[in-house]
Amino acid sequence: MQVIFTASPEFAQTALAELQRIDRQSKFLHWLDQGIGLIELNEVTFSALASQITATKAAFIRHLCPVMEVLPVERLQSAIASQIPLFDRTQPLSVQIRSNTKAINRTELRNLLVDDLVAAGLTVAVKDPVQIISIFCDSSKSYLGFSNATENLSNWAGGMHRFAHEDDQISRAEFKLLEAIAVFNLTLPTQGLALDLGASPGGWTRILRKLGLSVVAVDPGNLADSLQSDPKVSHYRQLVQQYVPNCRDRFDLIVNDMRMDATDSAKNMIAASPVLKAGGLAVMTLKLPSKGVKGVINQAIAILENKYEIIGIRNLFHNRQEVTVVMQSSAK
Ligand SMILES: C[S@@+](CC[C@H](N)C(=O)[O-])C[C@H]1O[C@@H](n2cnc3c(N)ncnc32)[C@H](O)[C@@H]1O
Repeated sequence: MQVIFTASPEFAQTALAELQRIDRQSKFLHWLDQGIGLIELNEVTFSALASQITATKAAFIRHLCPVMEVLPVERLQSAIASQIPLFDRTQPLSVQIRSNTKAINRTELRNLLVDDLVAAGLTVAVKDPVQIISIFCDSSKSYLGFSNATENLSNWAGGMHRFAHEDDQISRAEFKLLEAIAVFNLTLPTQGLALDLGASPGGWTRILRKLGLSVVAVDPGNLADSLQSDPKVSHYRQLVQQYVPNCRDRFDLIVNDMRMDATDSAKNMIAASPVLKAGGLAVMTLKLPSKGVKGVINQAIAILENKYEIIGIRNLFHNRQEVTVVMQSSAK
């Protein structure tokens, strides 16, 4: 089975190496575009790949889609029509088209295909689809695949998760937390107390307040005015290393977006683990060096595993030179 995988262009080779470790008999075919590769799986099925990625803590594969047929663009309409009886009419379906050539008008093509699906009684949705038709077009052919959204790792084309800008948005970093919630399907608490380590200027704090949590924000830097006047935000203008040893509160959630060496940040999460309630979730970013990223991630994860169970690690669309880690306080 051929599979298209997508990673951030700067981590494409690392993502390929992760896939080749999961399926040692797989054969890399070629790059379709920057960060978008075509691979032939051998030992692992497409439907098992997403869970293998989670199990092996592979962090750089952002999106997957299967290739069931390679065909001229003109034949897509009839190829999809023949599959219509196989789709679940009760579940939303999305048509996701990517291309490496300007010769393809993706909007026109999508409208054409969607019209047929809607006429056949299917529910086509851009947001939160359960079933996905994935198409990648180059100048001479198209790659077509059908899958469940969970198998693709992200229900956005190529994992390019977009969020609308909000008027009261504080920082672009907000998108990282929103994307982590969506990609890892997190149910964050909607009441109680959250600890935001490295909070300034306060984007993540704003998201947590919107969820309904009260927030303790720790950062020597300033918080946005809207948060300074919020009685449910307490700002400790300190380093985390000063705040945590004296902390008497217990938290339902810890988030950490500190600009700090990844292993140091992991050690700070260990120091903070006693203030996280049993079973509480933690979300953090690990800032990566320009070289040796896998080694740094492995070191940081080995530290974190002393006190947390790792739920997921991913270089998200809104992450730059970093990965986001989601974990849960463990009994250790
Ligand atoms: C990327 S910014 C955080 C952005 C924030 N998540 C948001 O959404 O607005 C990183 C922050 O980490 C803070 N930081 C770095 N080292 C720290 C430390 N030892 N203790 C507390 N904050 C620290 C910096 O002051 C900086 O404000």
